[in-house]
Amino acid sequence: MDNNWYKELVVYQIWCRSFKDGDGDGIGDLHGVLEKLDYIQSLGATAIWFSPIYPSPNADYGYDIADYKDINPEYGDLKLFRKILNEAHKRGMKVIMDLVVNHTSDEHQWFIEGKKSKDNPYHDYYFWRDGKGDNPPNNWLSTFEGGAWEYDENLDQYYLHVFSKKQPDLNMDNPKVREEVKDIMRFWLDMGVDGFREDVITFISKAEGLPNGFPLPIATGIEHYKKGPHVHEYLKEFRHDVIDKYDCFVVGESPMSNSQDCLEFTAGDDHELDMMIGFDHMEADCFMTDTIHMPFSLKKLKKAFTHWQDDLAGKAWNCLYIENHDHPRIVSRYGSEKYHDESAKMLATMCYMQSGTPFIYQGQEIGMTNITLDSIDQFKDVVTFNNERLFKKLGLSDQRYLKIANKTSRENARTPVQWDSSENAGFSTAEPWFNVNPNYTQINVASQEEDPNSVLNYYRKLIKFRQSHKVAIYGDYKEHLKNSSQLYVYERNLDGERLLVVSSFTDKSVKFTAPEGFDLSKGELVLTNYTISPTQGTSFVTRPYETRVYYFK
Ligand code: NOJ
Repeated sequence: MDNNWYKELVVYQIWCRSFKDGDGDGIGDLHGVLEKLDYIQSLGATAIWFSPIYPSPNADYGYDIADYKDINPEYGDLKLFRKILNEAHKRGMKVIMDLVVNHTSDEHQWFIEGKKSKDNPYHDYYFWRDGKGDNPPNNWLSTFEGGAWEYDENLDQYYLHVFSKKQPDLNMDNPKVREEVKDIMRFWLDMGVDGFREDVITFISKAEGLPNGFPLPIATGIEHYKKGPHVHEYLKEFRHDVIDKYDCFVVGESPMSNSQDCLEFTAGDDHELDMMIGFDHMEADCFMTDTIHMPFSLKKLKKAFTHWQDDLAGKAWNCLYIENHDHPRIVSRYGSEKYHDESAKMLATMCYMQSGTPFIYQGQEIGMTNITLDSIDQFKDVVTFNNERLFKKLGLSDQRYLKIANKTSRENARTPVQWDSSENAGFSTAEPWFNVNPNYTQINVASQEEDPNSVLNYYRKLIKFRQSHKVAIYGDYKEHLKNSSQLYVYERNLDGERLLVVSSFTDKSVKFTAPEGFDLSKGELVLTNYTISPTQGTSFVTRPYETRVYYFK
C-alpha cells in the first residue's frame, strides 16, 4: 500500500484532558475537540494525533489503559468519537490514535484475570516471576518509580513494570498477546482511523531470561529492552499482518535511540515504522532526561538535528517536533519568555523548515510557556513525585526541588489551553482540573486571532508556505556555520528551487554573512519575525531571535 501521503501531513497533537472542556466539568473532552475542529483546520493541520483517550485510572494520564476498545467516559463515548472521526475526515484531516502496548493498566481485565492464579490463561500475558529469596527476580529499576518489580502476596510472585507499578509490562513473546495487539489495531483501523503513534514501541521485547542490568539511579536494566532481541520481528509481524493491509501510517516513539537506530526501524522497503519520535534534539538543555538541567547549547541542538536530517536523507523520513505532552514548553526552554513572540516564531521556523512531517502540540501555536507553581502539592504527575523522592534522597530541600520541578517537569505542557482572556482562559466554565497559566490574559488564542502578527498567524503562514512549496517538504538539507553558537543556518534544495533558513538563538546582534552562492537581494524573503526592508548584498545583522527564510528560484 502506498501511504506516502504521511510525508505531506501537518499533525496536531491533542492531549485531551487539557484541550477544551465542552461539558463543564473542568476536564477537557471530546465535546471540546468537536467544537475546535475548525480551529485546528484553520491552522493548516491535516491530521490529529490523540494522546490516549481510552478508559484509564489515569495513573499516567491515559498511558495506563484499562480498555483498548472504548473511550474514557470523562471524555465522551465511541459514538462521539466516530462523529469526530467523520467530521475530521470531512475537513480533510486524518486521525491517528496512541497505541500503548508495552504495558496496560493494572486495572485492565487481562491483568485482573492473570493475577487470579498462575494457571489463569491471562497470567502469561505479563512477566510474572518468582523472587530470588526475599529479593525481586532481578535488579531492574523502573524508569518511573523505584524497583521495576511489584510483589503480589496471593501469587507469591512479582510482576514487571518498567514504568509505574500501575503499568504492568505485556509479555510480547506470548503470541496471544501479539494477536490481541493486532486485534486492537484492526478495531480502530476498521472504524476508519488513519494510523497510530506507538508508545515506547521499541521497548516491547525483553531479553531472554531477564538478566541483571548495569546499575543506574533509574531504569537499571534498560539495555535489556531498549531494543530487545525480537523487536524487529514483532514490529514486522504487526506491519505485515495489519498495517500493510490498510491505507495508514505508524510513527513509533523510541527513547534513547539515535539516527542509526531509527534507520533500522524506518528505512528500506520492509520498514517497520514510517517515522520515529527521537529525543536527541530534546536534550540540548539537559542530560539524558529533562530533569537533569544544563545550560542550553545551540551546537548540541544543531548537531542532533543535522545528524537526523543527514542520516535519514533519501532512506527514511523525519518526525519534526519541539513540543509534546512529555516536555516543558519550548519557548521557556530554547527560546526566551522576554522575546516571547520572536522566539516562538523562530523556533517554529527552525524546526518546521526541515525535512520531515511537522507535529505541533496543542498550545504551541500560540507560544504557551511554562507555569510556576507554589508548592509540590499542586503538581499531578507520577514522574514529578518520583523525581521528588530521588532528589530528596540526594539531600535536596523542598524549595530546591520545587524550583527544579517548575523548570523541568512535563506538567508544564499540561496546563489547560488558553483560549481567551475570560475566566479559566475559556478552557472551562468550571474550575479546571489543573492550574491555568496566569499569563492567559496576554497569551491566548482569541487575542492572537485578531493580531495579524501573532504567533498563531505566523504558524498559519509557515504551514501554508510549507504545504505549497515542495522544496520545503522534499528538499535536500545542508547545514552552514556549524560552529556558530548563536545562529542556526541551513539550506534546502529541490530541482533548482532553494531555501535559506537563518535563525538566531540570542538577543545579541550577530553579523550574518550568507554562504557562497546566495545573493540575498535575489531571494524572496518569504518568512520572517521582523519587519524588514529588502536585503542588499550578502549580509545583515540579526535582531533578538530573528528568523528569515529566503526563497530562490
Ligand atoms: C511515553 C509517553 O509519551 C509518556 O507520556 C508515558 O508516560 C510513557 N510513554 C509511558 O507510557
